[in-house]
Amino acid sequence: MNAYEFYNAITISWFCVAALVFISLFFITAPYGRHTRGGWGPKINATTGWLIMEIPAVVTITFFYLMGDRLLNPVAIAFLLIWQTHYINRALIFPFRRRSPGAEMPLMIAFSGLFFNVVNGYLQGYWLFYLSPAKEISWFYDPRFIIGLILFFGGLLINHQSDNILFRLRKPGEKGYKIPHGGFYRWISSPNYFGELIEWSGWAILTWSMGGLAFAVWTAANLAPRAIKHHKWYRQTFEDYPSERKALIPYIW
Ligand SMILES: NC(=O)c1ccc[n+]([C@@H]2O[C@H](COP(=O)([O-])OP(=O)(O)OC[C@H]3O[C@@H](n4cnc5c(N)ncnc54)[C@H](OP(=O)(O)O)[C@@H]3O)[C@@H](O)[C@H]2O)c1
Repeated sequence: MNAYEFYNAITISWFCVAALVFISLFFITAPYGRHTRGGWGPKINATTGWLIMEIPAVVTITFFYLMGDRLLNPVAIAFLLIWQTHYINRALIFPFRRRSPGAEMPLMIAFSGLFFNVVNGYLQGYWLFYLSPAKEISWFYDPRFIIGLILFFGGLLINHQSDNILFRLRKPGEKGYKIPHGGFYRWISSPNYFGELIEWSGWAILTWSMGGLAFAVWTAANLAPRAIKHHKWYRQTFEDYPSERKALIPYIW
């Protein structure tokens, strides 16, 4: 099996695992955040857990960029910068902005996230910086790049705005949950997940790659069931929860 065939086999397997994860998450809620519970083995501090999960996404893609054959290719550089715009925040800033004093997560969740980000980093980086034909500078004018880029940064803005609204719900040192308002919370319970979905759909389009598509599918498989669980949790927890609010997609679902 050559490198190309190996890559394709991993990509196909990754789509299959995403389908299994999607089905499983309707029956088992990932035990972190408000859904944390016992019975999932040893726990670690949640901030450390987020660092363990997300730093590999920054490192893996940088590794493949440096090992690749297109260090000075402007499109390759743009892909790297776009990716890192998301992951520098997620891996190095977000964990310290969360206001969840004393929160823990199962070690197993942290290592599942680490594993995911290493495989995903390989799927993106090995393809974009090594296996695929190098893209010419004309890719910057291609409608796929432009539409994908608009979606990516539109999604990123929604994701950041929504996470920021959540952070502000708690004063430093405070615990517990409140009803979020403003931004896309007018319409849905998990706009941070909605933004994330738009971002990675944009990434799939702007890179026009199977690896990018696999990541977008994984994001949906992971976050759609969790958005439903969050939505049900809000409705059960707060009697005055806005009844018109949907779970994940404004006006629809
Ligand atoms: N691409 C992917 O597959 C993927 C997967 C997972 C997460 N993510 C992203 O990672 C980020 C965090 O995910 P998450 O699952 O932790 O999101 P989340 O459940 O919405 O929580 C985000 C943060 O806000 C706090 N929070 C949530 N609801 C609150 C409320 N009603 N009142 C007060 N504080 C509240 C949480 O505290 P607690 O921790 O105490 O609950 C946590 O610190 C999101 O931007 C998400 O899109 C991406």
